[in-house]
Amino acid sequence: MSAAEVPRLILCGERVKLRTPQFQDADRSYKWFADPEITRYLPLAGRGKLPMDAIREFIVRVSRSDSPELAVSIEAEGEYIGCGGLRNIDCESAELSIIIGEHRFQGRGIAHEAAMLLLGHAFRTLGLKTVWLIVRGDNQRALKLFERLGFVRNQLLLGAVVVDGEPKDKWKMTLSREAFQGIEHRISPATGR
Ligand SMILES: CC(C)(COP(=O)(O)OP(=O)(O)OC[C@H]1O[C@@H](n2cnc3c(N)ncnc32)[C@H](O)[C@@H]1OP(=O)(O)O)[C@@H](O)C(=O)NCCC(=O)NCCS
Repeated sequence: MSAAEVPRLILCGERVKLRTPQFQDADRSYKWFADPEITRYLPLAGRGKLPMDAIREFIVRVSRSDSPELAVSIEAEGEYIGCGGLRNIDCESAELSIIIGEHRFQGRGIAHEAAMLLLGHAFRTLGLKTVWLIVRGDNQRALKLFERLGFVRNQLLLGAVVVDGEPKDKWKMTLSREAFQGIEHRISPATGR
């Protein structure tokens, strides 16, 4: 049995479980990365769907114990409902990513809880100083989530990407360890506020 077939539990919250990706995730991931509603603000926007081969290669790569990135499958109510992780990890910082692929799990605080688990891992376990991300300027839901998590917009990347012939702006957002500690103590796990 290969490493990709033995999911390791990484982090557990009240409603959310984060584990290593496994081969059984590939079909759902394929569905999400072919869904224009989900990919609308992702780098894949306007460029069709992600091939199944690429999804399987990704699962094998990130399941290796020496993988330089932390990729997680997000589970809620016993189902695989999204994915995310920390990539571009160096000694001080990492990039956060998060996708809730199952529509019925959006808008319920699941992304918030999964992101809090990843941020706790980044700041406490890995001892990083900063977590950053890049988000499309018109991705209102994502901006709202990240600002609620304490991220601040610190660099506007004008016309960073062209989607269907239209230039779109992106924001680089960052969260410091100190700001995360403040947010962590302030918010209620029940409401995320
Ligand atoms: C961006 C994305 C991750 C945001 O997910 P989301 O489901 O909106 O975020 P949450 O799970 O935190 O849900 C937020 C809502 O749940 C509510 N909520 C309920 N219980 C909550 C709790 N315990 N904690 C936090 N929020 C809670 C919030 O009030 C909020 O509602 P509101 O939008 O009406 O204010 C999601 O839309 C997505 O995956 N999109 C496609 C991929 C994508 O664009 N990813 C980002 C790339 S940068």
